[in-house]
Amino acid sequence: MDLAYRLFARPYLFSMDAERAHVTALKMAGRVARSPELCQLAAALYAPAPSPRLRMQAFGLTFDNPVGLAAGLDKDGEAIDLWAALGFGFVELGTVTPGHGQPGNEPPRLTRVVEDRAIVNRMGFNNRGAPHLAGRLAARRTRIPCGANLGKAKVTPLDEAPDDYEATLRAVWPHADYIVINVSSPNTPGLRDLQAVAALEPLVARVVGTNRALAAEHGRNVPVLLKIAPDLADSDVDAVAELAVASGLDGIVATNTTLRHDLLSRSAGIEGGVSGVPLAPRALELTRRLYRRLEGRLPIVGVGGIRSAEDAWRRIRAGATLVQVYTGLIYEGPGLIASIVEGLDQRLRESRYDGLADVVGVDA
Ligand SMILES: Cc1cc2nc3c(=O)[nH]c(=O)nc-3n(C[C@H](O)[C@H](O)[C@H](O)COP(=O)(O)O)c2cc1C
Repeated sequence: MDLAYRLFARPYLFSMDAERAHVTALKMAGRVARSPELCQLAAALYAPAPSPRLRMQAFGLTFDNPVGLAAGLDKDGEAIDLWAALGFGFVELGTVTPGHGQPGNEPPRLTRVVEDRAIVNRMGFNNRGAPHLAGRLAARRTRIPCGANLGKAKVTPLDEAPDDYEATLRAVWPHADYIVINVSSPNTPGLRDLQAVAALEPLVARVVGTNRALAAEHGRNVPVLLKIAPDLADSDVDAVAELAVASGLDGIVATNTTLRHDLLSRSAGIEGGVSGVPLAPRALELTRRLYRRLEGRLPIVGVGGIRSAEDAWRRIRAGATLVQVYTGLIYEGPGLIASIVEGLDQRLRESRYDGLADVVGVDA
């Protein structure tokens, strides 16, 4: 348990409106990230004990531990080196859109439902653009895998969406370790329609094709994953899984936020995607379904409502090779990372498995 966060930082941040708290915390994180000495201090206070049992391989990359920062918290890559210092095994930046980015939706667009350990957001991809993120990625000191999550601008018509994904891909490609095609945020009108196979096929073909051309030109392979919504019908999940395999994608991130506000115990007061504890059962179920369907052909990154080592352990047993957290970090603080990483290691020691890779999908 992260006592300092619970006693001091969280009450202070939670006394502010959620977006102001986010901006304040991220600004501070950015300042710490720029100082190698402060990052060292953060690592001394928070980083988990390393364990070779937790090393994972996925889509051609090696991860010292399987716990990553989910997309959307640090969209512009302002604090990459701090996330690494705190003990994350990998970080996903973005979602970014082309050019100079966009302001996102009008506030209010972010709120907490504390009783449910949930967040509701309708941010709408506020970001400074893919070229800016590329610069932040280029300037990072850490070697942990850093992914770039790509989206389309609000003003871009759906039938021109592939142009946006290609532009953002080209901008971040030289400095990203992996790419995520985000077609699952509920806050860009029509975006989730791109998950329908008829729309998804040409979009994925464009990104994978451009990626292959860049790989051939530069002699370096960058894996491409697809991030999906928890609100897809099971039959659509199966279709997307098959499409992902057939079109040469390297993995699936499951899941984004849900539009199921009935999972909350009270009205959030704003529209938008629900994250945190209420999302966990569906995200877990989807991981298990995907794992069964994919039969090991593609790895799954499990995300949605993970806030303890037990949650992460269950998600990995259901089929996730890697996991990510966002909302859990807001409620539990930076100590959550070590608590999950060390908790996974303890469960492994008490199990008959030699390494975490052997646990993936055992409950599926
Ligand atoms: C405020 C907020 C902003 C988010 N922005 C993005 C985003 O830009 N791109 C994306 O793919 N997911 C975004 N997400 C979704 C998270 O990456 C994650 O999939 C989701 O919150 C479920 O995980 P959690 O329950 O641990 O938060 C956002 C989530 C929150 C709470």
